[in-house]
Amino acid sequence: MGVLNGARNLKFLFILLTIKFIGADVTLYPHPSGIRSSDKFTVYVNHQQSFTYISTSDHRAQEVQHAHSHRSVSWTSFSITRGHAIVEVHTQTDFRQCIVRPKHYGYHCKRTGTKTAQFTIDSNRRMMSVEFDYDYGSTHKDITDKLLIFADPPETDVPKPNTLGVLFYSAGVTDLGGQKHLNASVQEVYLAPGAYVHGGFITTGHQSVKIHGRGVLSGEKYKFHDSRFNYALINMDKGSHHTVEGLVLVDPPYYFHRALSVHNTMRNMKTVGAWTYNSDGVSLGDNGLVEDSFIMANDDSIKVTYLRD
Ligand SMILES: *[C@@H]1O[C@H](CO)[C@@H](O)[C@H](O)[C@H]1NC(C)=O
Repeated sequence: MGVLNGARNLKFLFILLTIKFIGADVTLYPHPSGIRSSDKFTVYVNHQQSFTYISTSDHRAQEVQHAHSHRSVSWTSFSITRGHAIVEVHTQTDFRQCIVRPKHYGYHCKRTGTKTAQFTIDSNRRMMSVEFDYDYGSTHKDITDKLLIFADPPETDVPKPNTLGVLFYSAGVTDLGGQKHLNASVQEVYLAPGAYVHGGFITTGHQSVKIHGRGVLSGEKYKFHDSRFNYALINMDKGSHHTVEGLVLVDPPYYFHRALSVHNTMRNMKTVGAWTYNSDGVSLGDNGLVEDSFIMANDDSIKVTYLRD
């Protein structure tokens, strides 16, 4: 009897383990109401639709001569704790072949049906470009409609709303009306998953500041070189030991990120929609660290700078 029960339990345990192994802890992010979704790509992660953003270039092309018109970048983000995620992409145009870059991830993109591609992600901290043979680009021409997939690690250190010293942006659209000054009372700025913030941030005090989360910070509403922005969407020239982590930065009026002070970190950040000149990725001062980040830039990607007086 005892032996039989043991065998049954073992079998049960085996089934449980198998389910755990096949499954994955994938967290999809909320869709901010009022933000349009991509009309170029639809993305499903483990059969659930993952909200796909789009940034387009036409407003920049109308504004400045050097910007290309009719470009777009679509992207989606989600987090993976463990296991793997099956990503399915639906396109507007049929294709024969597709590629997931960087190729060294070893993710094999296959066509599984009309206008449908599939591949499997086995880890987080993965930032991918998915490319289709109708729009591969070349050294003479960029990809017209880009698609980026960001598999984040899960969030740690999520602050509670209304914490002293924390500016908290929850899911939904917020317009800062320019670059928000972070005075000495602010230690942390948090953009929750599904937060879509129009504007930027600049440190003005001596304290270190952490700007993080899984939200989006966009400069799309601001004109090229808008005087309300000091050099970058996020400027942390003042203070030191700053961190930016986990956000997507979009369509900046100037650089994406500049932190010429010392000991600054940029981690798991993504920059997209670099339609104009001067959209440098990041410029850091002495002892800066950039890791696990994806940079689309239309000038320098990573600018190593010495500390200015
Ligand atoms: C400092 O910034 C906080 C948050 O934006 C704001 O509420 C406060 O009024 C500011 N203080 C001063 C002295 O400007």
